Amino acid sequence: MGGHLNIVIRGTGASVPDHVITNDHFASYLDTSDEWILSRTGIKERRKIADDKTVLDLALEASRLALEDAKMTPDELDLIMVCTATPETQVPATACWLQHELGISGENGIGTFDLSAACSGFIYGLVFASNIIQGGNYKNVLVVGAETLSRITDSQDRSTAILFGDGAGAAIISRSEDPEQGILYNELGADGSRAKAIWMPAGGSRDPASIRTVNERLHNLRMNGREVYKFAVLKMQQLIVEALERTGHVADDLAMIIPHQSNRRIMDSARERVNLPPEKMAVNIDRYGNTSSASVIMAFDEARRDGRLKAGDLVLIVAFGAGVTWGSALIRL
Ligand code: UT7
Repeated sequence: MGGHLNIVIRGTGASVPDHVITNDHFASYLDTSDEWILSRTGIKERRKIADDKTVLDLALEASRLALEDAKMTPDELDLIMVCTATPETQVPATACWLQHELGISGENGIGTFDLSAACSGFIYGLVFASNIIQGGNYKNVLVVGAETLSRITDSQDRSTAILFGDGAGAAIISRSEDPEQGILYNELGADGSRAKAIWMPAGGSRDPASIRTVNERLHNLRMNGREVYKFAVLKMQQLIVEALERTGHVADDLAMIIPHQSNRRIMDSARERVNLPPEKMAVNIDRYGNTSSASVIMAFDEARRDGRLKAGDLVLIVAFGAGVTWGSALIRL
């Protein structure tokens, strides 16, 4: 749990691939239906990256839009962090590729690294960036949540294939001059005993890629949907209640809650726990599916751009994901 971090989100951006995958696409070859997917998850469609594009393309576009929004140039950045479970390469970090694409690589290049906290990634990144800014040596940090889940999802597994989508969001975090502004409260946590609730068995140093691992489809996500669902409902509710209670706020104070877009039923149960009306919850899962670490910042960017969020608003972001990991941040914009 952390205290007040005096930061401002100076700019945000988001990017999704053009190609839309409808629920009917899955119904055409799997034992599922549009009706089942929509009623059990809230997803109508999701995006899929083209074969000749990568997660870096999405991260780059989102970053450029965030810089434009912040009226900044890449050379004003002090640090780049990419939160992702689907990195461009295992080595080096996606953030190194991104730094180069932004045109700021070289002998005096700024620090760059990836952060691995799955769907909680952006919240971990935001809290980390805010703490490092508070430390005084960094002014402007680029935090990106970018995923191409389609590259690691088993198209034959009906419980995961329908769920995930590709996308990216980016935010520029800077020190604020306004003492009211910033992260009022945050909580980051994990329970490593549940590591196999959502995991990719091979491709790491535990079981490197081989003909066997490919034949056994071990490079895809495995998920115990029911276990994750039960855990997520309780954890999301708990995170929201704690953030409000520990800061002396009530749900009515919130301009908006932005939950990880995991499953509409999990999101609604969290919202209903504190009696927030549906219009106060950001939703993009209907159009983009579960985009893991990108989901919160993509929804945040959308709410900022269409005017649902403005300076002075109180917003609560909350997520859980593989690990299992979780995080929340109550932010005064
Ligand atoms: O970012 C974090 C990542 N993960 C999540 O947030 C996932 C959390 N879990 C979920 O969202 C849900 O568990 C799912 C959407 C994955 C599944 O929905 P559910 O209502 O919890 O279904 P279930 O797992 O309890 O399974 C009920 C039935 C099963 O059939 P049987 O065993 O009862 O015959 C599943 O095989 O639903 C079946 N099922 C499907 N049926 C039609 C699972 N996926 C599908 C599907 N179409 N796509």
